[in-house]
Amino acid sequence: MKVECRVNGETRIAEGVWEGESLLYMLRERLGLYGSKNACEQGECGSCSVFLDGSLVCSCLVLAGQAEGREVVTVEGLAPTNELHPVQQAFVEAGAVQCGFCTPGLVVATHDLLRRTPNPSEAEIREALAGNVCRCTGYAKVIAAVNLAAERLR
Ligand code: FES
Ligand code: FES
Repeated sequence: MKVECRVNGETRIAEGVWEGESLLYMLRERLGLYGSKNACEQGECGSCSVFLDGSLVCSCLVLAGQAEGREVVTVEGLAPTNELHPVQQAFVEAGAVQCGFCTPGLVVATHDLLRRTPNPSEAEIREALAGNVCRCTGYAKVIAAVNLAAERLR
C-alpha cells in the first residue's frame, strides 16, 4: 500500500508498505531517515521516539498505515539542516553522548518534556525519560544535559 504523510514539514509518500509494517521501518527503510534507531522493536527502549501529530510515540509500535494523512516529526526535523537544536547541543556539551545509539530518542523525549515543563525537577526528568534506555552513560550526564538545555531554552 501507499502511505502519504507530512514528515518534518514535507509531504512524503512511501510506496510498497505492507500491512504490518511499523512507522519506524517506513521512516528508516523507505524514507531514508535513519535518525530514529531500531534497538528493541518492542516499545521498551525509546530509541525510535518520534512525534506523531505532536504526541511522543515509539515509532516501532505505530503501524506505518496509521501515519496516513498525519504529521510526523523525527529527530532530523527538530533543528534546521546542519544546525543543532539546543537540546542536541546540550547533550554534546554535557558529555551525554557515548555510543550515541539512545541519543536521538533521548533528544526527542527531552524536547517533549521541556515544551511541557520548562523547569523540570530531577524527579520529573527521570520520570519523563523513564522509557528511554541508555546502556552507556549511567544517566547522570543525560540529566545534566536536560538541565543545561532547560536553562538555555527558558
Ligand atoms: S525500538 Fe522502539 S522502543 Fe525500542
Ligand atoms: S550512549 Fe550508548 S546507549 Fe546511550
